[in-house]
Amino acid sequence: MCGIIGYTGNENAVPYLLKGLGSLEYRGYDSCGISVFQKGKIKTLKCSGRIQTLSEKLCKNNLSSETGIGHTRWATHGKPNSRNAHPHESQSGLFSVVHNGIIENHASLKEKLVKDGFVFKSETDTEVIAQLLEQNYSGSALSSLSKTVSQLEGSFSLGIICREEEGKIFCVRKQSPLVAAKAESGSFVASDITALLPFSKDIFFFNDDELAVIEKEKISFFDLSGNEIKKTAETIDFSASHQEKEGHEFFMHKEIMQQPHVIKETINAYFKNGRISFENINLNKNELQKTSRIYLVACGSAYHVALSGKYLIEEMAKIPCEADIASEFRYRNPPLNTNTLVIIISQSGETADSLAALRLAKNQGAKTLSVVNVPLSTIAQESDSVIFTHAGPEIAVATTKAYSCQLAVIYLLAAYISSCLFLLSEEEEKDYVSKLSSLDEKIKQALETEPLAKKLSEILGKSKNIFFIGRNTDYPVAMEGSLKLKEISYLQSEAYGAGELKHGTISLIEKGSVVIALCCRKSVFKKMLSNIREVKARGAFVVALVSENQKELAEGADFIISLPETENRFSPSIEIIPLQLLGYHTAKIKGCDIDKPRNLAKSVTVE
Ligand code: G6P
Repeated sequence: MCGIIGYTGNENAVPYLLKGLGSLEYRGYDSCGISVFQKGKIKTLKCSGRIQTLSEKLCKNNLSSETGIGHTRWATHGKPNSRNAHPHESQSGLFSVVHNGIIENHASLKEKLVKDGFVFKSETDTEVIAQLLEQNYSGSALSSLSKTVSQLEGSFSLGIICREEEGKIFCVRKQSPLVAAKAESGSFVASDITALLPFSKDIFFFNDDELAVIEKEKISFFDLSGNEIKKTAETIDFSASHQEKEGHEFFMHKEIMQQPHVIKETINAYFKNGRISFENINLNKNELQKTSRIYLVACGSAYHVALSGKYLIEEMAKIPCEADIASEFRYRNPPLNTNTLVIIISQSGETADSLAALRLAKNQGAKTLSVVNVPLSTIAQESDSVIFTHAGPEIAVATTKAYSCQLAVIYLLAAYISSCLFLLSEEEEKDYVSKLSSLDEKIKQALETEPLAKKLSEILGKSKNIFFIGRNTDYPVAMEGSLKLKEISYLQSEAYGAGELKHGTISLIEKGSVVIALCCRKSVFKKMLSNIREVKARGAFVVALVSENQKELAEGADFIISLPETENRFSPSIEIIPLQLLGYHTAKIKGCDIDKPRNLAKSVTVE
């Protein structure tokens, strides 16, 4: 949700800003721009569209400067055109600002500024910040920033340069992510560590309401009253190799193919002597025994994992569970108390609604556990306990490997809670663990369905009416399969619990409709066959995903994708593979921008 980068040092800032923006582009990509110092003034260049367009514009201008800020935007206030693109300068060009977040009181602030004679050029909430900085300036950009922050409501991380203080970048964080790093060539600030890793692995993390002054030799932190805060950098053990496609046409394809490896890494991180071990996380057995209700809260694909978690934890641990979309959870006054466990699932660890749900749960005394992919992300830092997925950095906006690793953690967690409650014997746990250990091999086999998915994508590409159906834990997989198809290929599809279709939606089924039926879960296989017959009788083209030993039974299906046999509970991990490949190849046939689908952003840091 918008990416911020800043550099000040001994070298030309422009290539650093462009490289940083390239890494951050997954956060938003409808417009972009940079501001640098030029002959004692601030020079800003921006455009609608991608970083490549900005880069071409910059080449023509031949800009060089030792300090600058840059931004890649996901529009919230105002159309994605060059006028609304960041950076935004104040009226006289004294300040230039890049912003990630939303200023909720921008309308009242703007009204007052207009009365005071300020003229606005854009429709954005951000321009208000630039004008306020100018209005509050009396010789110190840092003091002006402190005063401005006290007038703002909402969420924001800011990167600011001031004409009178060349060589410095002023920053602040409030509920939107921001990190900084010191390298040999100079100092950096950015929305996330992926943009900084190519330059430095020693990262400074901001807390909320902290300001910083970034200079080439040093990075200084302050509280809102101007008192200096001493901080040390944390060394991050992430390689920057994730930034290469390594022979794949798109990052999404690379990440789909990485799944056996990252799932193995995730599972192995929590095995010890043939049993599940969460000894390094602060998840206390006694507390689990007192837990009377669990809420699994997340957004997007992570919410689909939460739904799978509800089925599995209820089945194995017999604790009532609810899966909630974070943006609903936080406004529906859920009954929370000290015996409630709230599990937040998030790849980025920065999703604004998931973070707000976590804070709500903590405020009301619930215990919190997060399942997060990015170490040191805000959700990871603020939760009582954290289980990390080991997916590594994910670049494609549509998640694949992080989703699969989250599912793997859910399998582990469901069994762990069950065992803490004495519902799973040591022997049963060891058997479960041994089956889980072979999941990566089964996923490898499932990846071999790629030619079938490719063939099917040709049929899907021509279809207008697509349904995904499943029962039990296969139902959330149907939702995730449908989302994968929609978000990258822009084809309309819907997911249904297979038994629910006949309560209305079946009226949409006609000749040419495609129904993708997930039938790997043995416990509901026969029910799925009945549902297949129902839609077949009404003219649908049926695609069935079945375990290899049941493929003969999937009579009535027009197209069968046979998948490796697995423990019932793990079928989501196997079934999602051909569905990810199906979304990918359908989008490819349609010539879509697979890694950066229109209107989306990977990390959604606004509500
Ligand atoms: C965005 C992404 C989705 C993701 C969701 C939640 O909408 O496009 O792929 O599932 O955010 O993100 P999180 O980082 O919290 O898992």
